[in-house]
Amino acid sequence: MAGGGFVSQGGAGNFEGKVTGFVIMTCLVAASGGLLFGYDIGISGGVTSMDEFLQKFFPEVYKKEKNLSGNTSNYCKFDSAVLTLFTSSLYLAALVASFFASATTKALGRKASMVIGGLVFLIGAIINGAAMNVAMLIIGRLLLGVGVGYANQAVPVYLSEMAPAKIRGALNIGFQMAVTIGIFGANMVNYATSKMQHNGWRFSLGGAVVPAIIMTVGSLFLPDTPNSLIERGKKDEARQMLKKIRGTENVDEEYNDLVAASEASNQVQQPWKDILDRKHRPHLVIVSLIPFFQQLTGINVIMFYAPVLFKTLGFGDEASLVSAVVSGLVNVFATVVSIISVDRFGRRALFLEGGIQMILSQLGVGILIAKVFGVSGEGTFSKTQGDIALFLICVYVAAFAWSWGPLGWLVPSEIFPLEIRSAGQSINVSVNMFFTFIIGQLFLTMLCHLKFGLFFFFGGFVILMTLFVYFFLPETKNVPIEEMNRVWKAHWFWGKYIPDDAVGLGHQPKSIEF
Ligand code: BGC
Repeated sequence: MAGGGFVSQGGAGNFEGKVTGFVIMTCLVAASGGLLFGYDIGISGGVTSMDEFLQKFFPEVYKKEKNLSGNTSNYCKFDSAVLTLFTSSLYLAALVASFFASATTKALGRKASMVIGGLVFLIGAIINGAAMNVAMLIIGRLLLGVGVGYANQAVPVYLSEMAPAKIRGALNIGFQMAVTIGIFGANMVNYATSKMQHNGWRFSLGGAVVPAIIMTVGSLFLPDTPNSLIERGKKDEARQMLKKIRGTENVDEEYNDLVAASEASNQVQQPWKDILDRKHRPHLVIVSLIPFFQQLTGINVIMFYAPVLFKTLGFGDEASLVSAVVSGLVNVFATVVSIISVDRFGRRALFLEGGIQMILSQLGVGILIAKVFGVSGEGTFSKTQGDIALFLICVYVAAFAWSWGPLGWLVPSEIFPLEIRSAGQSINVSVNMFFTFIIGQLFLTMLCHLKFGLFFFFGGFVILMTLFVYFFLPETKNVPIEEMNRVWKAHWFWGKYIPDDAVGLGHQPKSIEF
């Protein structure tokens, strides 16, 4: 790719520049931050279904699972608030950390946040691998959460600032790609360690040191972004860096633009107040709803608890973990579809197609489970029924992986005007983490009470969010970031919130779709 010249369409103008090998390399290294998030998501479900782990830390759950303490419905086998706290505490810590991270990222640079995130995560991984009691487990998880909060705040910002506008979308989805690889890697580790006689869970949890080291060491070698260097007064260094990443001496226009953008954003003293302005209502609503909806697809029921879910459905230990590996692989490959098509078919097409596909597969799973387990929760899948369930779950995961997965991170990052972009990003991260926490915490209880209805519950939300996208989300494909206000202005509903003078006159977007 190195050396291919192009004229970028992003930013406030058309800048000369190339897609350099250097920028691709730095972005690949930075995207590895997604591995931290992914490894956590994928590891806990497998670990919480390992007998030795349950016996040691959660003996009550173990008894219930083995049905040693009387009759328990299949749906309620794993219902334990402490067990879910193990999974979900991480996201609460990440939520809080993301606010601190945004201050660090601004004052010390993106690179500093990535290094800090990687180090804290590393310590958490070591404590978890060595855990002797529940407290050590939870403390380790909290530290991992702080790491994830820092990484998720800094990495997407880093990628957006480094990337030439033309491939910003693809590089942004590089983050989600790393998330899915992290989840899959964790699934594989669980599969291997579950075969160990003893201490398999220690290797699973301790294995988190691998993504931590990749990101920490990798980011030590990363340069900081020109935007961040300018923000911290290092203007000469910023100009040199811009020349290097764009592969040209002629960076004046983009450089001046970055300085102007930095000055303009310095003038907005209170981005948190500014974001509440009527003219930012459309952005605020979308950035709050997208992460909320992303989690209400129910995806993390599969990502966190696939092995537990499959066990609940009566799959054996081995079959449960294999099924989790299969759905993890589908998740990785389907993300590639999104990278290839997001700038061609657009965000809306992916959202709508993915939504419909998810609704149909959730309906299918719900009906199948209702048929076999009914309300009592007693029953077992036949081999064919098990295969159909796994197939439907993979259809659902694929749909998420090319729609709400990557777009849940991409769209919020591209709809804001510069002065409130980072505040907006914090809202995105924290709302996402909050609902990841809620789903992680409540899923097993919900399964216990809603039974097969749980799949209809999430399916209902997917209907709602698909309608929302259809009516309220404008297409942002190929629209330069600084022209985004025109998109809002031209929208049938949001248009009235955007003052006429907020839309620059110089640029005419080629087409605006709803
Ligand atoms: C979501 C995670 C989810 C993952 C699955 C991400 O975009 O934020 O909650 O587990 O996708 O691949």
